[in-house]
Amino acid sequence: MRRAKISVIGAGNVGATTAHWCAAAELGDIVLLDIPATEGMPAGKALDLFQASPIMGFDSRIVGTTDWADTAGSDVVVVTAGIARKPGMSRDDLLSTNAKIVGDVATKIRETSPEAVVIVVSNPLDAMVQRTFQVTGFPANRVIGQAGILDTARYRAFLAMELGVSVEDISAMLLGGHGDTMVPIPSCTSVGGIPVTQLVPADRLEKIVDRARNGGAEIVSLLKTGSAYYAPAAATAQMVEAVVKDKKRLVPCAAYCDKEYGVGGYFVGVPVVLGSGGVERIVELDLLPAERALLDKSIAAVKDLVAVMNRLTATA
Ligand code: NAI
Ligand code: 2OP
Repeated sequence: MRRAKISVIGAGNVGATTAHWCAAAELGDIVLLDIPATEGMPAGKALDLFQASPIMGFDSRIVGTTDWADTAGSDVVVVTAGIARKPGMSRDDLLSTNAKIVGDVATKIRETSPEAVVIVVSNPLDAMVQRTFQVTGFPANRVIGQAGILDTARYRAFLAMELGVSVEDISAMLLGGHGDTMVPIPSCTSVGGIPVTQLVPADRLEKIVDRARNGGAEIVSLLKTGSAYYAPAAATAQMVEAVVKDKKRLVPCAAYCDKEYGVGGYFVGVPVVLGSGGVERIVELDLLPAERALLDKSIAAVKDLVAVMNRLTATA
């Protein structure tokens, strides 16, 4: 069977770490691409990672490059290109710089890997995935944003810390935009099968949700020189795995919703079934009125962000 070809665009913290997780899990052969100004950096990281393979026992070819021709015919392309948040910056501050970068990257993907499933990570996520969809012109099921798996993982990690139980026993679902406006669904959160509402008082649960909402900012304030990358890259690798192994994982991702949840043509974090076709199904939950109100607020924030981006890219 042919090995999957996975290209990771942007060989910085998230990109290189995504390549690492994907190689270690033998998800396919990997191309790590960055801009020419980075000179040997992607090649150096790829060679270093490949030299780890005899020790760690994984069998993936890994190439670092600045030449888009090396990415041709990829099955999956992961977009991490762009600038990351520094202390004091919001994700939205990244909007104009990253809209330009992601637009250029999307043009290259359209030319070199027209059949790929594209997983977007660059921030502000909900706008960058829309930008990728606009520029590639790919079917909506083949353009997906990574945010929900990360936000949910943070929530699960904080719940495990709170309850002193294994992260493995915590199952959760969050909807909406990345970060500040994400929407917890307590009825879909359980610990060893027990509804979380029976284990954590409502006021304490709200504090944990808030910490998850601000999980990215918490890491930025600790690192001081950039933003999180281990957990974001792990979340991205899980999406790559779902696609290359056609796993039909039911996970939260930023997917194109038109009639779904009444969104009207934007990418919003919703439960999806991920497989070789990308987003193969969007799962619509029955929401309580309070959850629906939070989701509407989140959708409105995504629409505002995309409107700003559309103005910026129209005048650029
Ligand atoms: P980084 O600065 O370490 O790496 C970004 C890389 O992109 C750099 O090496 C840069 O040279 C490269 N790049 C810039 N323009 C490019 C182009 N046109 N083509 C190819 N490569 C290009 O940043 P980091 O930490 O890896 O973050 C990357 C992006 O991912 C940021 O926008 C960050 O905010 C976002 N992010 C999103 C998360 C999510 O959950 N959706 C989580 C963590 C980060
Ligand atoms: C995060 O949530 C910066 O979006 C990135 O860590």
